Amino acid sequence: MTNFLKEKKILIIITGGIACYKALDVIRRLQDKKVNIECILTESAKEFVNLITFESLLGKKIHSNLFSLSHQKEMNHIKLANEVDLIIVIPCTANFIAKMANGIADDLASNILLASKKIKVIAPAMNTNMWNNKAVERNLKSLEKMNVKVFSPKKGLLACGSKGAGKLMEVDDIIDNLNHIFYPKALSDLKVIVTAGPSIEPIDPVRFLSNYSSGIQGYEIAKSLYYHGAKTTLITGITNLQKPKNINVINVSSASDFYNKVANNLPCDVLVSAAAISDWKVKRISSQKIKKNKNDTLNISFLKNIDVLENISKHPKKPKLIIGFSAETSNLITNSKSKLKKKGCDWMIANNVGENKVFGSTHNKVSFIADKKIEHWPKMKKSDVAKKISKKIVNFFKKK
Ligand SMILES: Cc1cc2nc3c(=O)[nH]c(=O)nc-3n(C[C@H](O)[C@H](O)[C@H](O)COP(=O)(O)O)c2cc1C
Repeated sequence: MTNFLKEKKILIIITGGIACYKALDVIRRLQDKKVNIECILTESAKEFVNLITFESLLGKKIHSNLFSLSHQKEMNHIKLANEVDLIIVIPCTANFIAKMANGIADDLASNILLASKKIKVIAPAMNTNMWNNKAVERNLKSLEKMNVKVFSPKKGLLACGSKGAGKLMEVDDIIDNLNHIFYPKALSDLKVIVTAGPSIEPIDPVRFLSNYSSGIQGYEIAKSLYYHGAKTTLITGITNLQKPKNINVINVSSASDFYNKVANNLPCDVLVSAAAISDWKVKRISSQKIKKNKNDTLNISFLKNIDVLENISKHPKKPKLIIGFSAETSNLITNSKSKLKKKGCDWMIANNVGENKVFGSTHNKVSFIADKKIEHWPKMKKSDVAKKISKKIVNFFKKK
């Protein structure tokens, strides 16, 4: 992923929790990303970690005392509050959450946060009972209302020996999430729907008709559009993929489920239909498991399924931009061009699922087809295909 953190100025406030030592790892990782870091330790944090360790790693002085004249000369706290691009409190104690939520300013760190108009992030870490405490819950809600971003802790084994929510977010995720904050938000006014994964059409209570779609391409597109600031809904068939954070995920199964959920979520600005939705469904679903009998063959009749793209293209609340995916095993471009026309969408992303073993792979080789334009893109990561499609969407709305 592009490094949007490069040359950003970030103030890290370390408060007095058991996860203090993990802030060292965050600092090192941000240094790798060429971030300009300033650091403050609260008085309690100094009980957990050694100031010298942090100063050695940073190669500069750690701020900690509000009333230190030498500090005031070097870096006035009001100046520090507004010279940085972002302030992150990591780990953030229950105590510090309460101070921020109530505007208490009784040390250097809390004064700086009150004086700053910059992006504020907290990464809380604490015992599960503390995390679930109503007072902490209420304070977090107040902070979210004040636009403080919360990097929520995860469940796990905690330092106090108990298991549950309250464990500091993984360092990798903290770095990724910080990077996303600085991603250019060119699609922030748009609502998008992305479909992904396979459909499932039941045959009997234990069998179904489906396909090999992994959902990777659709999930990557949904994430990429979200990083560009779009309000994103992902409508997905069953996959093994992790639910993307901050995206509204709706789980579906059959073609008609896909259609209903897309239609119910209109109006939207963009629909990207990357799901592999079956053209056929079983005419009569057996209520009992179909048994073996003397015959060597079994005949099942299929009915044409609802065509999601075609019907959404005719919908009164039709999205401004409709992008389909065309998976073909022969005559890729000819078939995809006629699909573009027949289904009434704006762009078609064509991939040859015969040759390239697209399903389940992390890479894809696609052609971009618009009304009078065809681009053959080289083989690349599905996340890069997603970025290229996002870029096209950004340009489409720029021209409007
Ligand atoms: C051993 C020990 C571990 C602690 N761990 C945490 C913790 O993980 N999270 C938390 O919110 N408070 C924790 N506390 C309580 C805080 O240190 C305490 O509330 C302190 O006042 C926080 O000060 P600060 O918010 O100014 O850094 C711990 C206290 C002790 C003694």
